[in-house]
Amino acid sequence: MTNLPVQTKTLDLIGNTPLVLLDGPSKAAGCEIWGKCEFANPGASVKDRAALWIIRDAEKRGELKPGGTVVEGTAGNTGIGIALVANALGYKSVIVMPDNQSKEKMDTLRALGAQLVTVPPTKFADPNHFVHTSRRIAEETENAVWANQFDNVANRRAHIEGTAPEIWEQLEGRVHGFTCAVGTGGTLAGVGLGLKERDENIRIALTDPHGAALYNYYENGELQAEGSSVAEGIGQGRITANLEGAPVDTQFRISDAEGLEWVARLLREEGLCLGLSSGINVAGAIALGRQLLADGVENPRVATILCDTGFRYLSTLYNAEWLRAKDLPVFDWLGSASEG
Ligand SMILES: Cc1ncc(COP(=O)(O)O)c(C=O)c1O
Repeated sequence: MTNLPVQTKTLDLIGNTPLVLLDGPSKAAGCEIWGKCEFANPGASVKDRAALWIIRDAEKRGELKPGGTVVEGTAGNTGIGIALVANALGYKSVIVMPDNQSKEKMDTLRALGAQLVTVPPTKFADPNHFVHTSRRIAEETENAVWANQFDNVANRRAHIEGTAPEIWEQLEGRVHGFTCAVGTGGTLAGVGLGLKERDENIRIALTDPHGAALYNYYENGELQAEGSSVAEGIGQGRITANLEGAPVDTQFRISDAEGLEWVARLLREEGLCLGLSSGINVAGAIALGRQLLADGVENPRVATILCDTGFRYLSTLYNAEWLRAKDLPVFDWLGSASEG
């Protein structure tokens, strides 16, 4: 018998991701920092989980019928998850994305067979926002469901029933803190609720990028954004249904420069090629670890999410010209301007 995982159905490849001890971040924090390897999902991101739970929920409720279409508005990763799950279950997918997201995500969606609709980025209040556009397309398409990842709590159930118990088991019940950034809030709220069910003393922290309104909301009750971020998939300006009742004990705000430094170090020192939300999460986890230590918790263990693969951002985060144009530090191994 082998101890290697064996699955008889491809959809069972979603979830049950490895948890890895991160050496550099642990040294920087002075305690154990663990990363949940969500890039190991078939669609290479944490959003495969939400896609699977949302589609299974729509089937159970009788809303999604054989041969139907799943429509979603997304920064890209949820769309990739939906396209793969839809393919595996015989559904079609229509994905609406703001046109400022990485080219790699758009190319991937087309390659997977999704119908891709791009719209200009705009405020949530604008009826042409990608979320509202996707809802309208779902309403106008026969035998279609709108995944509605922001306000459909099947999204956070994926983390209450999947990610949280996995982290608990992988750390054998000895975990003191969890943190991640918020896109829909499914991961933070779901893992937070799932871990608190097991031990209410586990400290749950929001790690917010600049340009998002949640740091201030949890700090002083006001939904107010400051600054901006180039991180894709995270940064929320409202309390989504998935965030309602999220057990957030504390909050950190992390700059793109700090997140990028961890993206660079995780690649160069530990061989992990990740996206910027993972770097921001790791910086937040270090802040949480230091806070737990300062509060006298002995040998605290903090877990966070390594949300997606860096291969999705070769034309942005890993491109010197792009980084320079955004006034961000350029990874030193990417070469000089003349080399392009
Ligand atoms: C790269 C990336 N990181 C983090 C997140 C945030 O996850 P959640 O929507 O569960 O808050 C997303 C969501 O789309 C994402 O694409």
